[in-house]
Amino acid sequence: MAGLSRAAMLATAMGLIVAALLFPAAMSTRPSLISMTTGGIRQLPDGLSYDFYKDTCPTLEIMVREAVERAIESDVGVVAGLLRIFFHDCFPQGCDGSILLTGANSELKMPQNVGLRQSALDLIESIRETVHQECGAIVSCADISNLATKHAVMQSGVPGNLVPGYLLPLGRKDSLGPATTQQVRAIPSPDLDVNQLVEAFASRGLNEVDLVALSGAHTIGKASCGSFMNRDGENDEFVQRLKNNCTYFPVAPLQDLDVTTPNTFDNYYYKNLQNRTGVLHSDMQLTLNATINQLVDFFAADQGWFFSTFSTSMSNLAHLEGKPAIIGEVRRNCFKVNGLELTAPNTFVASA
Ligand code: HEM
Ligand SMILES: *[C@@H]1O[C@H](CO)[C@@H](O)[C@H](O)[C@H]1NC(C)=O
Ligand SMILES: *[C@@H]1O[C@H](CO)[C@@H](O)[C@H](O)[C@H]1NC(C)=O
Ligand SMILES: *[C@@H]1O[C@H](CO)[C@@H](O)[C@H](O)[C@H]1NC(C)=O
Repeated sequence: MAGLSRAAMLATAMGLIVAALLFPAAMSTRPSLISMTTGGIRQLPDGLSYDFYKDTCPTLEIMVREAVERAIESDVGVVAGLLRIFFHDCFPQGCDGSILLTGANSELKMPQNVGLRQSALDLIESIRETVHQECGAIVSCADISNLATKHAVMQSGVPGNLVPGYLLPLGRKDSLGPATTQQVRAIPSPDLDVNQLVEAFASRGLNEVDLVALSGAHTIGKASCGSFMNRDGENDEFVQRLKNNCTYFPVAPLQDLDVTTPNTFDNYYYKNLQNRTGVLHSDMQLTLNATINQLVDFFAADQGWFFSTFSTSMSNLAHLEGKPAIIGEVRRNCFKVNGLELTAPNTFVASA
């Protein structure tokens, strides 16, 4: 008992110290959107710029924004689809559209990428078509995907409180092939514990604030039973209900990741975690480390701070580097490398 309370006191003291150290540090290493343009911890990858298409395709962002707007009107789920595609494209080796390639050895066929939304993949390709008709085949699928995700996020949120825009390095080329199996395996699995989640993000230069803010993407979207079936917590009524829903025959329904406001981009993800109704094992893990849990509490208490931090962390993800960003090509079909885009035109549909 004495040991326990000493540990608890130590944890509290540590928490205060860490909070004092972590938050000012987090704030000062996460500069405002304006100072980011002049440096900061993020390097603009060689050959890229924030206004790459200013002269060659000045209407690019308008075309993307309008296409995303229309897509959301008919299916709000496309926002979740784009967000997850963005994470899974950028994390392994930097955003390079490698996730979009179809075929036998594609990233899409790897277990980490099961369940990526076809409607969002199709939206990216359909925006590419529009953009290439207007400006010629000069804008990469990687850039279009990143821009579409940004505009989807910016149109989310609640009236009067939208997620702010963020800087995207543009001019990236599309990859000539998939990322390696090893790189794709670096995408964190929902079975990881909190220390492993921190490590996975740290391996890409992302810190605890990025981890907790970006996990807030789970305020929208859905998971299949395979993603949470081996959660522990058999005595937990909520986990029982989660698992029970998976017994529906013949097909269990997909589970909303945010059980309170499933289709609204807000900070209920964090309120759910406080209420122990996070869906994934990895979601609930964020509450088990006192320091990390303080971030959960901050985001739960302040939606505006969640939105601005989320947007900055999204920009951090977009800056990740792997192989040089200007190596590759501008694909004429996002699903196929050039030269193959005219063969077997519908194989990607059949394989979806
Ligand atoms: C922290 C580590 C993360 C883990 C372990 C994780 C894991 C998962 C899992 C298992 C699913 C459900 C997949 C399925 O069953 O089909 C999922 C869905 C989703 N994830 Fe994550 N994720 C993480 C971080 C992120 C990040 C950083 C983002 C974006 C910024 C993100 C965005 C999403 C979205 C939007 C969905 C729903 C997709 C849809 O409904 O189409 N996740 N995630
Ligand atoms: C279980 O299914 C019901 C009915 O579709 C749904 O409302 C609920 O959110 C699901 N999950 C949990 C944990 O209750
Ligand atoms: C917290 O979770 C319980 C049980 O899952 C649920 O009945 C309750 O409505 C939740 N409260 C909030 C504020 O979300
Ligand atoms: C909690 O997380 C912090 C920040 O990543 C880390 O420094 C600390 O060691 C973790 N605490 C425990 C008990 O694992």
